[in-house]
Amino acid sequence: MVEARKGISCCKHVVLPVLVVLIVAVIIFLVKDKAHPSPVPSIPSSTPSAAPAPMVPTLENGTYGAALATSIQFLQIQKAGKLVGNTIAWRGDSALNDGKGASLDLSKGLYDAGDHMKFGFPMAFTGTILSWTILEYKQLLTGYGKLNLALDNLRWITDYLVNAHSADNVLCIQVGDPKVDHSCWDRPESMTEERPLLFINKTSPGSDVAGETAAALAAASLVFKSSNATYSSSLLKHAKQLFDFADKYRGIYSYTFPDLANYYNSTDYHDELLWAAAWLYHATGNMTYLQYTTDNGKKFKGYGDPTYFSWDDKRAGTQV
Ligand SMILES: *[C@@H]1O[C@H](CO)[C@@H](O)[C@H](O)[C@H]1NC(C)=O
Ligand SMILES: *[C@@H]1O[C@H](CO)[C@@H](O)[C@H](O)[C@H]1NC(C)=O
Ligand SMILES: *[C@@H]1O[C@H](CO)[C@@H](O)[C@H](O)[C@H]1NC(C)=O
Ligand SMILES: *[C@@H]1O[C@H](CO)[C@@H](O)[C@H](O)[C@H]1NC(C)=O
Ligand SMILES: *[C@@H]1O[C@H](CO)[C@@H](O)[C@H](O)[C@H]1NC(C)=O
Repeated sequence: MVEARKGISCCKHVVLPVLVVLIVAVIIFLVKDKAHPSPVPSIPSSTPSAAPAPMVPTLENGTYGAALATSIQFLQIQKAGKLVGNTIAWRGDSALNDGKGASLDLSKGLYDAGDHMKFGFPMAFTGTILSWTILEYKQLLTGYGKLNLALDNLRWITDYLVNAHSADNVLCIQVGDPKVDHSCWDRPESMTEERPLLFINKTSPGSDVAGETAAALAAASLVFKSSNATYSSSLLKHAKQLFDFADKYRGIYSYTFPDLANYYNSTDYHDELLWAAAWLYHATGNMTYLQYTTDNGKKFKGYGDPTYFSWDDKRAGTQV
């Protein structure tokens, strides 16, 4: 029994980032579909050409639209805190006291997967990718009637990340104890286990998680720029400080906290520094950030040689 449980908890915590990459993949397919309505090359013949693909988005089962809708719904399901306008019948308020011990409101954010952990590193990556998705494919999300849910999901993450950045050079990177959490098979609405907080700072650094959080907030500042300028500039302010913190006090968070290598093990932080600087340049137009990426892109090991794009390795993303 114990072994079986362990097996499940090992796999279940990677669901969130995998799903986020799925959202992007689905949208890319949708756009490709739209760009090339007929995947079959036209063969000269006497028969009339195939009917064009339907232009009205469909959410029917078995379509990419359904996969997109389900992915967005997954993020809704993962929401912690006091739910507002909840769209999921079987979810309720939970984790309302997260952060209270440190006088912080860390009640929002998304649970990682089937567990009740709030892991900052993959949650921030989710925020960055969701922002990128909304920036690139706003029209498509609107067409599917999913834009508002996507924005709500994003804001649920960024509200949490802003509060987690409780002071200059301090960031809460985790709520909950993964060892305890993974042996509690309860609902988040009724969990009673302790919810300890874990912070990085100048002496216990994590350039990867601070860099990714900076990237998420810079990217989200672009998303909210036209709808809420105050919120957008607050996100950007946090992003800039977090980038400075990440760059100045360097370290891999899963070296700082070796126990965390069992969950989201970070193999390097240089990719997150480049990724954060790229998003900051995008959000500010400030050449200093562009200069940082061009100078360090050459210097940081393996920049030109990415093999995949993931919550751990953003090199491919920095080259887009
Ligand atoms: C898709 O299938 C599920 C499971 O059978 C069903 O609950 C849902 O209503 C279907 N959705 C649509 C849009 O057909
Ligand atoms: C920095 O973080 C570490 C680990 O979270 C903690 O033990 C230490 O007290 C913190 N340092 C300061 C000055 O707050
Ligand atoms: C903008 O964001 C602020 C800060 O979260 C919030 O208080 C305010 O209601 C928002 N304004 C609009 C128009 O959404
Ligand atoms: C974490 O990553 C480091 C660097 O790649 C590696 O040396 C270490 O074995 C990994 N730890 C675990 C538990 O996977
Ligand atoms: C650009 O960013 C750098 C680094 O944060 C800052 O020192 C500089 O003042 C900024 N330049 C402008 C024009 O805002």
